[in-house]
Amino acid sequence: MTTSARPRQRSGKSGKAAAYRMYIDGKFVDARSGRTFDVFDPASEEVIATCPAGGPEDIDRAAKAAHRAFYGGWKTDAIAFALREPMGVAGQIIPWNYPLMMAAWKIAPALAAGCTVVLKPAEQTPLSILKLAEDFEAVGLPPGVVNIVTGDGPGAGAPLVAHPEVRKIAFTGSAEVGKLIMRSAADQLKRVSLELGGKSPNIFFADADFENAVDGALFGVFVNQGEVCSAGSRVLVQRDIYKKFVDAAAAKARTIKVGSGLDRNNKMGPLVSAEQRDRVVRYQKIGRQEARVAVGGGVPKQHERGWYVEPTIFYDVDNAARIAQEEIFGPVMSVIPFKDEAEAIRIANATPYGLAAAVWTRDIFKAFRVVKALEAGVVWVNHIQPTFVEAPWGGYKASGFGRELGHWGVEEYLETKQVYVNLDEKPIGWY
Ligand code: NAI
Ligand code: MG
Repeated sequence: MTTSARPRQRSGKSGKAAAYRMYIDGKFVDARSGRTFDVFDPASEEVIATCPAGGPEDIDRAAKAAHRAFYGGWKTDAIAFALREPMGVAGQIIPWNYPLMMAAWKIAPALAAGCTVVLKPAEQTPLSILKLAEDFEAVGLPPGVVNIVTGDGPGAGAPLVAHPEVRKIAFTGSAEVGKLIMRSAADQLKRVSLELGGKSPNIFFADADFENAVDGALFGVFVNQGEVCSAGSRVLVQRDIYKKFVDAAAAKARTIKVGSGLDRNNKMGPLVSAEQRDRVVRYQKIGRQEARVAVGGGVPKQHERGWYVEPTIFYDVDNAARIAQEEIFGPVMSVIPFKDEAEAIRIANATPYGLAAAVWTRDIFKAFRVVKALEAGVVWVNHIQPTFVEAPWGGYKASGFGRELGHWGVEEYLETKQVYVNLDEKPIGWY
């Protein structure tokens, strides 16, 4: 038997061409026909080798050998596969900033995975979710599949996390409560996914489309009154356009109409609660000490009632300042200048959080370098806040872990079971 394709010298046209053999059924062989073809060195134009010119009879030999080997080789007296199984009862705790949407983000993937749900809305915003419960009832969802328990965090949220029938907790809210939940879930090694907001950088390079950039900076942090987990609350602006940018952003922010959210002419509504308004007002006060005010910084005068605050832009903010490090969850922008790409990345990542980030530039190479360097679970280029049900949503670092939406969202409610089935009826004979 020939055990190698290694060539033998042979006298050919050039006198040095090596004759190779091909590999069929574990043997190195010549073509049945005995014919060969030449292999050339494209630099010298010389024939450096010959190989067997395989024909139909060689293909037949090879195919039959491969057919014989199939069944042979790998162990086939067993079947192994993986089952994806629902975890069971999912406990879900959601915040007040997008109540109905948060409920949908959480309930839909849990049901798709085959889980059942106990959901606790935020105590500030239970009504749209109770309406949803009426809709479940109307479409005939069987009793118990989705349960809505209204109540506050310590009263209803904490017992939900601790309940032994609840196999998984999905939470969106503050990092503070996220830590409490993780500690409590540790007792039963309960599965947890957490979405804990952030202090997301919205980065503007000097070559960005200027009008879009200014709009993007405002929308990034003023949409939904800034009560957005992915709010672009740290606006990083390259020094070349810094002054012009701050002026333009402040001028545009002054045109934002603040008033009831039920009036379509208004661009910004009240904050959710007196508590949240007070929290934002406290941060406005801190900001006035830490940085310079471009616009806003207080409470609008024209409203007699309602928990309104002014759209506020602080600039010359140091990234170490409290208004650049702590989640405010209101319409408060902190503008931070940077010199170059390296400095932008350093500032952007200098935060405990890592939910989202955006980068604005016309330079595709720069955009992708920055995308790769950012520590964030969601990164937008030349846009901010678009969200798709099929795209993964979740954070790096202190913004939590686990992903919602798309197949990633469903995965969070599934266990994986490896199954091995022995098909060999002979005695195993281990002992
Ligand atoms: P929170 O984290 O206290 O509330 C969110 C949800 O957690 C609510 O349903 C609440 O009842 C529940 N909860 C509270 N304590 C709990 C506990 N011990 N065990 C189980 N569940 C509990 O948020 P809060 O106090 O309303 O807002 C404070 C700050 O949290 C905001 O200013 C903002 O910075 C952040 N936040 C972030 C959100 C996000 O989307 N990541 C959403 C809401 C708030
Ligand atoms: Mg709280």
